Amino acid sequence: MKQKIDILVTAAEIQKRIEDLAAQIEKDYKGKHLVVVGVLKGAFVFMADLVRCINLPLTCDFLRVASYEENKSTGIVRMEFDMTQPIAGKDVLLIEDIVDSGNTLRYLLKHLETKKPASLKVCSLLYKEMNKGMRDQIHYIGFTIPNRYIIGYGLDSEGLYRSLPYIGALRKAFLKE
Ligand code: IMP
Ligand code: MG
Repeated sequence: MKQKIDILVTAAEIQKRIEDLAAQIEKDYKGKHLVVVGVLKGAFVFMADLVRCINLPLTCDFLRVASYEENKSTGIVRMEFDMTQPIAGKDVLLIEDIVDSGNTLRYLLKHLETKKPASLKVCSLLYKEMNKGMRDQIHYIGFTIPNRYIIGYGLDSEGLYRSLPYIGALRKAFLKE
């Protein structure tokens, strides 16, 4: 079956917004070394574009968590693998693809705080407007988007669509119930 996709944010709009976010991050972290931590797999495309726009000394690390099965949140967040470098005393910027229920972010913040970073901020490409809960924990937001199932630019549906250069939503009729 052919999947129908509504384009919500074009590739050009994403790149423009990334330049604005990077400029803000550079200003906020002037004179500091940043540790940029990406949440796999969803954040890898966004993080790759974002770090190339940030003109600061920085290192990159990754961790991987999972909570979704077949496009639905199970509500239980599992750490699949953790970062490799210590972050005690470091300025850490966590990069997420999307904050939906906020379960994953809540889990990750708790986890990273135990590692005693000097500072911990969050940058999420997307924020679903329905969920107001974690809004004040996210310091940099790319786009606020409607409460639909989002794919593209790193985000997947059962592993597919991560490589699309734009952000889109799957048409309802094509989603699994
Ligand atoms: P949360 O725990 O409900 O906030 O969801 C967080 C994670 O679930 C995100 O980091 C994504 O990996 C995934 N996720 C949530 N909503 C979507 C979506 O609309 N499309 C693709 N992945 C999503
Ligand atoms: Mg994710």
